[in-house]
Amino acid sequence: NKGLVTMSDLTTAEVQALLNEAQAFADGKTWAPSQPMFAANLFFEPSTRTRFSFEVAEKRLGLELLQFDGETSSVKKGESLYDTIKTLESIGADVVVIRHPEDEYYLDLLPKLNIPIINAGDGCGQHPTQSLLDLLTIQQEFGEFEQLNVVICGDLRHSRVARSNAEILTKLGANVSISGPRSWMNGFEQKYTYVSMDEAVKKADVMMMLRIQHERHDGEDYFSKEDYHEQYGLTINRERMMRKHSIILHPAPVNRGVEIADELVECERSRIFKQMKNGVFIRMAVLKRALAHI
Ligand code: CP
Repeated sequence: NKGLVTMSDLTTAEVQALLNEAQAFADGKTWAPSQPMFAANLFFEPSTRTRFSFEVAEKRLGLELLQFDGETSSVKKGESLYDTIKTLESIGADVVVIRHPEDEYYLDLLPKLNIPIINAGDGCGQHPTQSLLDLLTIQQEFGEFEQLNVVICGDLRHSRVARSNAEILTKLGANVSISGPRSWMNGFEQKYTYVSMDEAVKKADVMMMLRIQHERHDGEDYFSKEDYHEQYGLTINRERMMRKHSIILHPAPVNRGVEIADELVECERSRIFKQMKNGVFIRMAVLKRALAHI
């Protein structure tokens, strides 16, 4: 089936096809399944953007939504994720969208289920639809990825966005560098060039800022907001050192005044709200790919 759990499963041709389809939706294309179809969104972690943009995408494609609430479902009685999805499949769901705190929660499920699973973020693992919407935003700006300098900055250790993006951007020919506290780079430093924030702003075509994921930090490596902003944040002074054409991305939610200055969130270079808008078109393309092949 044509679910999507990790960017690693997509060839560059498949990525390009999804970007083209999403751009067509952005340009006004419409598509609806030839028979009624049902989608269920299962979010076991908080979300605003991903959850509601999937919901808007599903409604734009004319899908029927099965409302799922972890607090009032039989998950509360101990039902497993597998039994929950198997149940939804049995009663007629055609696709499930899942956000889950466990890395690679999908590995045990995939061999046993026929229903397409779209991963809306797994722990510190992957966030494929966020990655695709970031790619669409970059492609709209620069037309291509070859030789683009993308610097991913901040809390890489906990970032599924960084993992998904570093890998696919490299495959597409971009030069990926990393920046942020050294002790937050683990796993990335072996593969990508480390640059300081001052070097990053002079080099980057795309400054890809990341949220500090306080909920996953467990109190270690503590910085005050002010210290972090000064040492590793995109400050107003650093923004002035950026190249004329360079843009700022951030998956959001944003810790304003910490990883990025409050005033820069909506500045001329920022594409943060464009990313959110593109999220709907990407999710329409990913849902269509999952459902059009049934
Ligand atoms: N970017 C992102 O995944 O945001 P949410 O957690 O609000 O879905």
